[in-house]
Amino acid sequence: MFVLGIESSCDDTACAVVGPTGVLSDVVHSQAVHTQYGGVVPEVASRAHAEKIVVTARAALERAGVDQPDAVAATAGPGLIGAVLVGLCFGKGLAAGWGVPFVGVNHLEAHLLSPLLEPEAPAFPFLALVVSGGHTTLYAAKDVGDYAVVAETVDDAAGEAFDKVARLLGLGYPGGPAIEALAKDGDPTKVALPRPRAPRPLDMSFSGLKTAVRAASEGARPADVAASFQEAVCDVLCDRIVRAVEQTGIERVALAGGVAANARLRERVGSLGLRTTIPPRSRCTDNGAMIAAAGRLRLARGEASPFDLTARARWTPGE
Ligand code: KG4
Ligand code: ZN
Repeated sequence: MFVLGIESSCDDTACAVVGPTGVLSDVVHSQAVHTQYGGVVPEVASRAHAEKIVVTARAALERAGVDQPDAVAATAGPGLIGAVLVGLCFGKGLAAGWGVPFVGVNHLEAHLLSPLLEPEAPAFPFLALVVSGGHTTLYAAKDVGDYAVVAETVDDAAGEAFDKVARLLGLGYPGGPAIEALAKDGDPTKVALPRPRAPRPLDMSFSGLKTAVRAASEGARPADVAASFQEAVCDVLCDRIVRAVEQTGIERVALAGGVAANARLRERVGSLGLRTTIPPRSRCTDNGAMIAAAGRLRLARGEASPFDLTARARWTPGE
């Protein structure tokens, strides 16, 4: 079954085709327009999605050599509601026009399941750390649709912390790649930063880290601040992975979401001595392949969506 996947929940317009052999095409148009505002402006994002969605879908179908897919999957949430609506309505329209099934996909579930597209895909059950701009959650994935939250941030997401610290250092948006680039020339031991804790032992907190960076950055080299901050985030995430493995007894670990594109985090998690699956960087940040793949798994279980499915700003995976 060939599935067209459509993603428009934030600032990437992305479409891909996934078939029985894997990903046949994966086209992403990242909205550079937000750079001038220092963050994503929801209404600007919706309009930019509307401008690019048709060419992006057409490119994905052409590159895959598929005229008409067997089904269409689109992100139905969580995300910026206006942005989600663009891809969702477009996807429903295509499916209705072609007379093929439609499935609305949970964006976080798509990140969580994205390691299944890899050659060394984890078998269920596995632990999936989804670290993105809006979410930082460690799930125990028992099956498609069966996820238990093992740990989560109680305030900012890790990606949000990267973006806020980048703004503090006068770097552009998105902050993650900018911090990573600056940190390459920095010494992670130069600026002392806390490893914040949350009330529940496995949960995380990143808002205090941002405040600590502000206090510690005066007089310090920006590269050292960036490297020290990045190391602190990696320390917290690696600590929670190790403890989650101990607590759950699940030894297969997968990383997903935009922050998983970070080279230092990939290196640190890769050297924990666990069986880990870390998708390529382009599959960590928002993409259409993960939406098509999650849609395929849902459809294989007979779970198509009705055409009156609405967009959701908040939506827990598996709910
Ligand atoms: O998954 P994603 O593309 O979109 C959401 O669903 O949120 O994640 C975006 C987040 C942003 O906060 C961005 O700064 C962060 O991922 N990010 C990174 C890197 N690339 C993207 N953070 C650290 N290092 C990176 N290389
Ligand atoms: Zn995402």
